[in-house]
This record gives sequence, C-alpha cells and structure tokens, in this order.
Amino acid sequence: MSAADTAQAPAGPDTATAPQARVAAKRTMADGVVSLTLRRLGGGRLPDWTPGAHIDLVLPNGTTRQYSLCGDRWDPYSFRIGVLREPDGHGGSDFVHDELHEGDVVGIGGPRNNFPLVPADRYLFIAGGIGITPLLPMVAQAELLQVPWDLLYGGRSYSSMAFLDELRDYGDKVHVTPHDTHGPLDLDAWLPAHPGGTKVYCCGPGPLLDTVAHRCAGWPTGWLRTERFVARSTADGARDRGFRVELRRSGRTITVPADRSVLQVLGEAGVQVLSSCRQGLCGTCETAVLGGEPDHRDSLLDDDERAAGDCMFVCVSRSLSEHLILDL
Ligand code: FES
Repeated sequence: MSAADTAQAPAGPDTATAPQARVAAKRTMADGVVSLTLRRLGGGRLPDWTPGAHIDLVLPNGTTRQYSLCGDRWDPYSFRIGVLREPDGHGGSDFVHDELHEGDVVGIGGPRNNFPLVPADRYLFIAGGIGITPLLPMVAQAELLQVPWDLLYGGRSYSSMAFLDELRDYGDKVHVTPHDTHGPLDLDAWLPAHPGGTKVYCCGPGPLLDTVAHRCAGWPTGWLRTERFVARSTADGARDRGFRVELRRSGRTITVPADRSVLQVLGEAGVQVLSSCRQGLCGTCETAVLGGEPDHRDSLLDDDERAAGDCMFVCVSRSLSEHLILDL
C-alpha cells in the first residue's frame, strides 16, 4: 500500500481506537511529495512492523488514508510515510500537503502487512513513482541480511522522484530512470523468462504493475509480488446480483442485494467487521469463507489464494454461488 489517497467511507472501528500520534516532522522529498514522521502522543513505543507494512492515517478532517511505512523499522518510536499530492485523491493528500503541520495530531491504525518480504536468494525491486515507499524498508532489510538485490526506480522526472538522497548510499544497486530523460524502465533487460532464485517486488502505478505481471505470467506463484495503491478495476455489472450469506457462528442468514456490498449489509444487520479502505486494498476486512464460491474483487489475493476460496474481503468481493457461508 503506497501513499494511497482514495475515496472511502469513514474509518472502521480499528482506527477509531487507534493510538494518536503527533506530526514530529514534515519534509518536502520531491516535487509533490512530502514525508511525515509520526511519534506517539505522550511518548512511548509504536507497534512493531515489517517491511511492506502500511498504516491507516486518520486525518483531523475525518478522512482516513493508507500509507506504506518507509522509515527505519528498527526505530520503535517513529513511523515515517511519504505522501504524493494526487489531484484526484478526494482531498486526503491535499489536506496533508496544505493543512497538516508539524505538531498536529493524527490517528493511526495498524500497521498491517499485505506485502511482506519473504526469503529469497536475490531480490529485484521495481518502483514506479511513489511506489518507492514500501520498497525502501525492503532494500534496507535485504542489505542487512546481505542478500543481493537491485532496485529499478522509475519516475516522471528526476525532480519528482522522492528519497533519491537516501538511495544514493546503496551505489550501483540502484538504477534510477527518469522518464523524461531516459524513457521507461528497461524491463526487458531485467526480467528473465524464469525467475531463477530472484523474487520480484513491484509497487507503482497500475500500468507498470500490469506490464510486469504480463512479463512474469509464466513464473511460479509467489515469485512476483505486487502492491497496488489504486484498486484494480473489477467491476462487472453482469455479476452484480443478489445472494444469501449465512453467518455460521451466529446462525443468521442475510440477503445481499445487487446494489449493496456484503460489508454494508453486515453493518446494517449489526454485525461489525473491521474495515478501512473499503476498496479491497488494505486487507482489514478479511473474512474466512466456510462454504460457497466467493467472487473475488480485491487487489490483494494472488491466483492461488483466490482459487483456494477460503477467505474474502467483504468490502468489495461478492459471491458466485447463491449461498455463501462466512465465519461470522
Ligand atoms: S476494508 Fe480494506 S480491504 Fe476491505
């Protein structure tokens, strides 16, 4: 989850009880990108996290956004995030850029990690624009573990690419490609027909992720891992039909009409499920499936996980069967 600035409903219960934090530092990192350093209000440790994790940022204007943690994971007292100003971002990033100042108080939910770094003989990290944020802690971790790695980092222009100063310390492992002077990332040169021992982690705009996924289509599952910060388009009106959901633990059955999400109907029925992004991006609303066939519309599960059919994200996913059984 990288600097997502997406329209959504109010924060779920997890963020309502989230610790409060103060903006300890706000820095301009590139054209249109600021970083925020957050420290717990009143002092003390923040929750532990691992590379690839994100937090919910609950802003003083009542909106909640998800941002990847991009600071030092071994610093227990600070979170750092990078925020890209997004013209179509429904005001979240504008608020951070224009109205959030050092000393202001925000809420924090999480951290959660849907993009974990798993062991490999070698890593290839591919970042597009603000997609660099979840990869920063990953390259630090790979460096710490002395696992060979390379980073391909593309951006609109050199001045728009954040955190270049920090990356300079890694020398020729970092391959910076501003589009206006160098063209697109040279994926042909870096993505082999078979991964060998290299695991690829990619975060950035949808077209970059789609291109990388296309090139790695024949790879075994798990060797390419991607994270989106804009939901994948999965809308299919033809599949938007009603179905019944049995809540196995409470013994109730609810009906989800074609124009309502499972999450909405659960909420109206008084069944609380934690949620945050409500776009199938953050993973908060994951619910175990005990029966039936989910119609997955999230941007999180890979093909094998979808085929397993044992969990779903109830904010967006629906049902291909007329009857679905959830562990609620
Ligand atoms: S609330 Fe974020 S995935 Fe459902």
